[in-house]
Amino acid sequence: MTRRQDNIDVPTTAEPTAFGKKVFVRTYGCQMNVYDSDRMTEVLAREGYEATDTPEDADLVLLNTCHIREKAAEKVYSELGRLRKIKDERARDGKSTMIGVAGCVAQAEGAEISRRAPVVDLVVGPQSYHQLPGLLNRAKSGEKVVETEFDIDAKFEDLSRAAVKPVRQRPPSAFLTVQEGCDKFCTFCVVPYTRGAEVSRPVSQIVEEARRMAAEGVREVTLLGQNVNAYHGEGPDGKTWGLGRLLRELAEISGLDRLRYTTSHPRDMDEDLIEAHRDLKSLMPYLHLPVQSGSDKILKAMNRKHTRDEYFKLIDRIRDAAPGLALSGDFIVGFPGETDADFEDTMDLIRRVEYGSAFSFKYSQRPGTPGATMANQVPEDIKSARLLELQALLTEQQRAFNASRLGMVCDVLLEKKGRQPGQLTGKSPWLQAVQVDAPEDLIGTIQAVEIIEIGSNSLFGARIGRQDEHLSTAPDLKEVAFDA
Ligand code: SAH
Ligand code: SF4
Ligand code: F3S
Repeated sequence: MTRRQDNIDVPTTAEPTAFGKKVFVRTYGCQMNVYDSDRMTEVLAREGYEATDTPEDADLVLLNTCHIREKAAEKVYSELGRLRKIKDERARDGKSTMIGVAGCVAQAEGAEISRRAPVVDLVVGPQSYHQLPGLLNRAKSGEKVVETEFDIDAKFEDLSRAAVKPVRQRPPSAFLTVQEGCDKFCTFCVVPYTRGAEVSRPVSQIVEEARRMAAEGVREVTLLGQNVNAYHGEGPDGKTWGLGRLLRELAEISGLDRLRYTTSHPRDMDEDLIEAHRDLKSLMPYLHLPVQSGSDKILKAMNRKHTRDEYFKLIDRIRDAAPGLALSGDFIVGFPGETDADFEDTMDLIRRVEYGSAFSFKYSQRPGTPGATMANQVPEDIKSARLLELQALLTEQQRAFNASRLGMVCDVLLEKKGRQPGQLTGKSPWLQAVQVDAPEDLIGTIQAVEIIEIGSNSLFGARIGRQDEHLSTAPDLKEVAFDA
């Protein structure tokens, strides 16, 4: 059933029933969860829920969870312990509180969550967020609801409709999920199990959403997917479009000055996408391209489907097309069977590639993945020592990359208030945080900045003459609470 309001068809289960109620959403894990949390907040706003950033005030608390490593999953249970106390205190004041667990832990553990934490009223997997109002109604009548079906097309069709009114002002930089799920089955990874098979949204749906974002003041869009460069959506011509072609289409939208995408797999970096980096001014010179290991033996055991040599050749092609592009990556140390020599291969790969930034992790055994039951698990102390060594090298490379920006003039998209009064924080084209002295009304503008100082976590820039041509219409940047 649909309700017609403000000339927008809004799917709903009934008239708003939650006026005056508040929802608190806490987000863990990757950017796709950040995107999903915003969409859930929008769906709930149609029901009358208002977002709050204090769980004590919330009639509904949603934890949007991550299952990627053991620590990420365990965080959820300690948070549920805290929420139990809040729920009890609110009950003493005569207020009821619903608690829902969404995201990848919900998908992976299902009903087990409310068995282990009876405080939980609702468990909802990532493909069922469009059904939230109906699920909440069932939970309100006392049912312990668990919904973990995969119906990804319906999810995006429903979630991508305009909110009745924007829940909050869009920030100048926003995420847009274009692809979800993964068919790669790397042997360490839970994503193919928690997010299901790869699905790409149709081009027209994405373009419409991006246009709406631009109209609401968004200047930079980061396209998201667990395997974003495997994107293969249906184009308006009925043919299958890859990510390169989609980026070319989005680059035409006026007001969208910056495009990014994440996360990519080396196997899916096709020529068209590499050429998009060469041709599109708005495609930022930054690429997150995880390799995980530099050892052919470990890459094979991880089922990464490429060798170190193929990765080097790919990096050469990318750098030929887009000189100066900053590379980023993910690394896992201590995968089962990793010897000192394998680890050395990873260190050698890092030295050869030279990363601008990177994320690195100790291997974590995930239930149900092939890696969890492999022989030759690496002892924890060896993993820790290797991680320290690897991170020292990556930090050194990041510092060198940052230092190489000193004295450069570059565009910075000013996104929000900075650490010091009178300062704003923005991003360089290479995704570095830059602090700039500037008045608040410049939030949402792109300014030419000279990099004048290199700090340990961010760069400092001074504005130079040129002014941005379009001023922001979106200065109110109140954010939904989230933990990245
Ligand atoms: N789709 C992306 C990665 C998504 S998960 C890709 O293919 O690269 C983000 C990162 O978490 C991975 O790149 C990997 O480095 C890390 N990761 C995933 N599973 C892990 C595990 N079991 N233990 C440690 N790190 C893991
Ligand atoms: Fe996980 Fe591999 Fe898929 Fe990335 S490509 S999401 S690491 S299975
Ligand atoms: Fe975590 Fe799920 Fe993202 S496991 S990294 S929240 S896809």
